[in-house]
Amino acid sequence: MTQRRFEFDYLVLGSGIAGLSFAMRASLNGRVAIITKKHRAESNTNYAQGGIAAVTSKEDSYEMHVQDTLTSGAGLCKEHVVRTIVEEGPSRIAELIELGMRFSERVIPFSGGAKELDLGREGGHSKRRILHAKDITGREIERALLAAIAQRPSITIFEDHFAIDLITQSKLGSKAPNRCLGAYVLNRNTNEVGTFIAPMVLLATGGCGKVYLYTTNPDIATGDGVAMAYRAGASIANMEFIQFHPTCLYHPKAKSFLISEAVRGEGGILRDTQGTEFMDRYHPLKSLAPRDVVARAIDTEMKRSGADCVHLDITHKPARFVMDRFPNIYKTCLEYGIDITKDPIPVVPAAHYQCGGVETNVNGQTDIPGLFAVGEVACTGLHGANRLASNSLLEALVCAHRAADHVISTAPHKLDREIPDWQSGEALNPDELVVVSHNWDEIRRLMWDYVGIVRTTKRLNRAQKRIANLLLEIQEYYWDFRVTGDLLELRNIATVAELIVASALARPESRGLNYNLDFPTPDPEWSQRDSVLRKEGSTTVSPPPVVKTT
Ligand code: FAD
Ligand code: SIN
Repeated sequence: MTQRRFEFDYLVLGSGIAGLSFAMRASLNGRVAIITKKHRAESNTNYAQGGIAAVTSKEDSYEMHVQDTLTSGAGLCKEHVVRTIVEEGPSRIAELIELGMRFSERVIPFSGGAKELDLGREGGHSKRRILHAKDITGREIERALLAAIAQRPSITIFEDHFAIDLITQSKLGSKAPNRCLGAYVLNRNTNEVGTFIAPMVLLATGGCGKVYLYTTNPDIATGDGVAMAYRAGASIANMEFIQFHPTCLYHPKAKSFLISEAVRGEGGILRDTQGTEFMDRYHPLKSLAPRDVVARAIDTEMKRSGADCVHLDITHKPARFVMDRFPNIYKTCLEYGIDITKDPIPVVPAAHYQCGGVETNVNGQTDIPGLFAVGEVACTGLHGANRLASNSLLEALVCAHRAADHVISTAPHKLDREIPDWQSGEALNPDELVVVSHNWDEIRRLMWDYVGIVRTTKRLNRAQKRIANLLLEIQEYYWDFRVTGDLLELRNIATVAELIVASALARPESRGLNYNLDFPTPDPEWSQRDSVLRKEGSTTVSPPPVVKTT
């Protein structure tokens, strides 16, 4: 297999909001390569609907946004991280607008036609604070950032390039202190594996929704960044907290289409299939309760009634308003024969967001020098045990900016060793496709059935055994045969599944998104304690934090 080598100042893995925002800023100081495994816009970011949470209204305050985030996070958020991200959000939003992002606006009443940003509302927010571009906020973010990047000659985007593994001193067997030196990358068009070398590598590879059978995420979301970082020896925190979005469209032909929480923010009501409202029995905020509560309530209702879905009803709102505020949801549902201005929308919960990830500080630094992580792949401590809606785009914007500023102000590391080319098996295996797709399906179904919204220790143990066997089988394939994108993704979803199960087993309580029937309540002992995993079988749970006063 031919090998190619590339050297850059900054190597960015991923082209969602985190990777692109970082690249824009870092490119002021050096040459940036962006590696992305499909088309440059294909990312979770591209499908974001509701918007970005930030304090921009006079009726709102940083304190209220901080408190909403802490409440949603169920005792596990890092408060200093929450404050930093909330307080720096408005400046980052202003920069995004300056770059060309077009948020929706509304006419201020009695102002003679003056306009202001239109603010949406979502579950767990005490105020309207969600900036959005109708219901296609993510598509507009990708458009604006990619257009700006096209004007920056110091950034090169490598599409259809799949990052296989990080290159680190310790993986190369060096006695020097561990450090990230770059990544091996598969060019999916030529099948070459290139060596990308850089003194600073940013993981911005997004989340892992595809580990579950039902998800709102697109196909790219296979947890590659968490799996690569884990293999490289980085700490991975709080992977048990997988957020299930309550309202994914339920239709046999619809693949992963989200019905935004903003629909409930504008008055949409959850009803059972008989048309009866049910959220009043679960939470005072009814359909706008925090996401973990709503998803569990729907799960309970579906199990109780045996129905395949519940309904989200916005038919009481004027049709013109619904069509104007949610044009993409309206159009997409209509393609499936559902007119949301007249019919309730059939919905089910689906895996949506990974609250844990590669452990970082608020500047994106991991515990491996030279390796940074930002966006959904990272665990900064903002989300705690349950992410507040629309806080993830905010986190990615703020932390990408901070990470870029941090690396720009740090002297670049000088590379002092030869980096070998990628080595892998050369055999082509005719059986591979069927084995890969079988194991892929098995992991996703297993995770849905045994490690879903409601868990038990017995089911988690069962999942752990099965995943360990699958990992052995996949390892064999991995070393013997030529790597393909499908095989790499299978290895990564299996690793991430293993981490989710191990973290869930390490936490003997129910908190936020980790709901275990054997430990049905939160344990105060576990408040502010992260579950942290490192390679070589060491599952460590962090001790109670030392409270520092400044
Ligand atoms: P992503 O945007 O997912 O980008 C990851 C990038 O990494 C992609 O380019 C991908 O191709 C690339 N990649 C992955 N693995 C590899 C690899 N091995 N090699 C090379 N490239 C790789 N959050 C909000 O705050 N507000 C919302 O309204 C909202 N709505 C959402 C709606 C939907 C349907 C979904 C799925 C998520 C939503 N979220 C929302 C969550 C939010 O969109 C994501 O958390 C956020 O966009 C993640 O950004 P990111 O840059 O970290 O990752
Ligand atoms: C949505 O629009 O419901 C998604 C918002 C989010 O995940 O933050």
